[in-house]
Amino acid sequence: MKLKTKIRIYTIGGLVCILVFFSLLIYVFFVRFSTNAEIRLLWTRAQTILRKPEVRSEQAWEEPELLREFLGDRMMIRIIDPSGTIRSNVENDPGLASYAPVYRTAYHTRVVPVWAERRIYIQVPILTVKNKRQVGVLELGKSFHLARGYLRVLLITLSSGTLVGILVAIFAAFFYVKWIYKPVEALAETMEQIEQSGSFTRLDPVFAEGDDEFGRLGGTFNRMMDRLEENYRRQRHFVEDASHELRTPLTVIQSYAGMLHRWGSENPAIRKEAVDAIQTEADRLRDLVEGLLQSADSQESQPDAPYMEVDLLELAGKTAEELSLSFQRQISLHSEPDVQFPVFGNGKRLKQMLINLLDNAIKYSGLSVELRLERDGVWVVLHIVDQGEGIAPRHLPRIFERFYRVDEARTRSTGGSGLGLSIVEQIVKEHGGTVELVSSRGEGTTATVRLPAYMQEDHPVE
Ligand SMILES: Nc1ncnc2c1ncn2[C@@H]1O[C@H](COP(=O)(O)OP(=O)(O)OP(=O)(O)O)[C@@H](O)[C@H]1O
Ligand SMILES: [Mg+2]
Repeated sequence: MKLKTKIRIYTIGGLVCILVFFSLLIYVFFVRFSTNAEIRLLWTRAQTILRKPEVRSEQAWEEPELLREFLGDRMMIRIIDPSGTIRSNVENDPGLASYAPVYRTAYHTRVVPVWAERRIYIQVPILTVKNKRQVGVLELGKSFHLARGYLRVLLITLSSGTLVGILVAIFAAFFYVKWIYKPVEALAETMEQIEQSGSFTRLDPVFAEGDDEFGRLGGTFNRMMDRLEENYRRQRHFVEDASHELRTPLTVIQSYAGMLHRWGSENPAIRKEAVDAIQTEADRLRDLVEGLLQSADSQESQPDAPYMEVDLLELAGKTAEELSLSFQRQISLHSEPDVQFPVFGNGKRLKQMLINLLDNAIKYSGLSVELRLERDGVWVVLHIVDQGEGIAPRHLPRIFERFYRVDEARTRSTGGSGLGLSIVEQIVKEHGGTVELVSSRGEGTTATVRLPAYMQEDHPVE
């Protein structure tokens, strides 16, 4: 069943129940109230009858007109003696006499419901005037129809009120639910459309505005779609680029392997060339795969590596030393004396960032490389300066893109895959910082990384 129908049924059903319940409650109270009023009237009438001295002396009971003057509409008045015999009786409603005479020594009331009628009986002991001895019982019976007078008006009012209430409820539930349900319906339709077509369809902006829950739901849905589409686009790009990059060394390996197969056994020169080329391309492939893995790593948050205080000066010193040893190149480190360079982050990732930047500075320059650290207010600033060939301004805007290389021929010979800087950018972003490259052709390049300085009070120890 549709949600819309369910809401309608529940709303109308609930309202009908409430209306019927309250109508019944009012009805029952009113019946009680009017019955009690009739009983009180009968008691008053009994008192009036007993004030007549003849009623209280047994001798006068046989007088047929004794009680006639007290008889009202649809009533019965009778006197019962101690043996249970009716000694005097007047009535104008034969139904009332069907109640068998019983002699009682105490006051007594009885209400008998007969369909929409009520029969009320009261009994009062008759005491003699002289010595207050009980000689009989005066019994009054009255019959009245419930749907009469006020009760009829009440019944009509209640039933028509309930009916109008139900009609209003049906009408309101129909339009109200239709109105409320619109955004949900639009959302369901959009989702079905997405499921069928596989496209990133957005919800109509009408349903994605407004600060009520539906507006927020629609807005969130559209923003989620934006992000999904962006992620999907980036991922497709990445896969396209990665497969293109992987294919190139594989093609080279494949053709050299073919050459080796055909002429390798006879021609040692060809054999050497092929094996060298295969080795170089295999190294390239390995670097590429490593770079890709790191790059994929950057996309993931790393729950296993908690952030902690990292002394960037110490980390930069160590990394520079390691690289200068393995590349046999000089890397000089400068920092203001007596200044601390603490940052909050993942030491392994920050080291990767330093390696990628220093690797570029070493690879793309023949001269010494300089590493400078300084403080700028709440920032720790790191400069990596080389005096290499530099980068032409037209390349700078795209330099942080994955697989982007300035010069195919040159970078092929230096073996880069064009992933280093994109990884750097990712890591810096992760740590809440910024990175930029300033370069001029022939003069060199300066990479500047700004990371928020670690403040003890920002990260209290738990
Ligand atoms: N310090 C630099 N001097 C001159 N050119 C640079 C410098 N740093 C980067 N580049 C240019 O920017 C390109 C992209 O650099 P990136 O580090 O992303 O890739 P890569 O060095 O080619 O490969 P990888 O770092 O993945 O091994 C490089 O190919 C290079 O042309
Ligand atoms: Mg690089």
